[in-house]
Amino acid sequence: MTLPDGPKASPQLLSQFKSDPLGSMDAMGERYGDIFTIMAGSTPLVIVSNPQGIKQIFTSAKEIIASGQLNHGAAPLVGFNGLLMLDGLRHKHRRQLLMPPLHGTRVLAYGLRICQVADKVMNDLAIGKSFYAYPTVQKITLEVILQALFGLHEGERYEQFRQLLTNLLSFARSRWLGLTLSYPFLRQDLGGWSPWGYWQNLQRQFDKLLYTEIEERRSQADPSRTDVLSELVFARDETGQPITNQDIRDLFPSLLFGGQDASATAITWSLYWIHRLPNVRERLLEELNTLGESPDPMSIVALPYLSAVCNEVLRIYPTQVVTFPRLVESPIEVMGYELSPGTVVRGSIYLTHQREDLYPQPKQFQPERFLERQYSPYEFLPFGGGARRCPGEALALFEMKLILGTILSRYQLTLADEKRVEKPKARGVNFPPASGLEMLLLGQLPRQGRSQQLVGTL
Ligand code: HEM
Repeated sequence: MTLPDGPKASPQLLSQFKSDPLGSMDAMGERYGDIFTIMAGSTPLVIVSNPQGIKQIFTSAKEIIASGQLNHGAAPLVGFNGLLMLDGLRHKHRRQLLMPPLHGTRVLAYGLRICQVADKVMNDLAIGKSFYAYPTVQKITLEVILQALFGLHEGERYEQFRQLLTNLLSFARSRWLGLTLSYPFLRQDLGGWSPWGYWQNLQRQFDKLLYTEIEERRSQADPSRTDVLSELVFARDETGQPITNQDIRDLFPSLLFGGQDASATAITWSLYWIHRLPNVRERLLEELNTLGESPDPMSIVALPYLSAVCNEVLRIYPTQVVTFPRLVESPIEVMGYELSPGTVVRGSIYLTHQREDLYPQPKQFQPERFLERQYSPYEFLPFGGGARRCPGEALALFEMKLILGTILSRYQLTLADEKRVEKPKARGVNFPPASGLEMLLLGQLPRQGRSQQLVGTL
């Protein structure tokens, strides 16, 4: 078997990737083209950025599988029975259970709440003072995900979850935990002051809280509840048995990480581009103004230019630069190379989105390209594809547009340093702006006419 050419995995390559992840991807793409191999020990990792090759990765389910085993390194973080660890029938079945509460009318029902939360968090900021957009937006997306996953937005249980998840998600992204995950010998519970001990303690608190909530819901069925937890509590597994509390618990960490972080990353980048390019902001405000006095969430979500801006944000800096790994199960030819079983394959979302033949002047932020052309799911893939395509896509796009619509029509913001060029930096699997994006709240726009209605009535 001749593998595509490519660099050797080395400490130097890793440090280049850490200091400038997208720059080093660009360099590899330029040097090796649409398909290249990174040799990590004896396991070849093949990276593909050609739509034909991407299509094969997503659709050749017999030859290329979405193996859960490949993600086991993340198990201490996201649980052994989380979606990422599962594959085959069980994975498919769990995804089918998650889809209804994360799509369609159930998601639409959160519209009002999303706008209110965005308004509340922004309203707490001091006028004339600077703030960091990324942690601010994270507060909003945490509230949205608490609503969608647990159906909670007030009361003692909501407060307990909110506090605990803030601590959990923030520690999960810390350097300390990163080190502990990379070096298993550091995983020793030496009490609350040791990183692993602290993490274990947070996990125990989370388990206790979630198991209490699960038992309460099992004992008091409430058919009016439409959230993910309520769906799982009464669901059956692939063998027809009720899903165990442990299995339900393990599904939540990956939903929480995906739900809070990826969305916050995308919305923060949107704020950056919209305020860096005055024409984009003006056109968005004009479009929002066409909605009249009392727009409903659906009409905001359907706005063509707002949709194009969101797509362009997800194109230029996708929150995740590569798909999760897939495993070649039986020999398959991809772009002229015969890949043998055991080869690991990833689609490069970032490099596909940087193709000059699909996106002329790819480094330029140009939302218009999405108004002028339809892209296939193998050309534009911010949510991945195939067996592991993001189950939160509908919720993510919905909240992205509503949060941006609310903020833009109600608050006047500017970048703290208009000349500063923001660079993405890896935080877990996501790539938010390295600095956290410092912005300034100049003031609130008058609460009259359409702007007032947008926030006040939703
Ligand atoms: C703008 C926001 C988001 C982006 C850009 C995004 C992107 C992605 C991508 C690229 C993948 C990997 C797909 C693949 O390997 O083919 C993924 C998987 C996943 N995402 Fe998202 N995501 C977002 C929001 C969300 C939300 C809101 C949730 C939860 C409600 C979520 C939960 C997940 C989960 C659980 C997986 C793993 C799926 C599996 O293993 O089957 N994501 N996401």
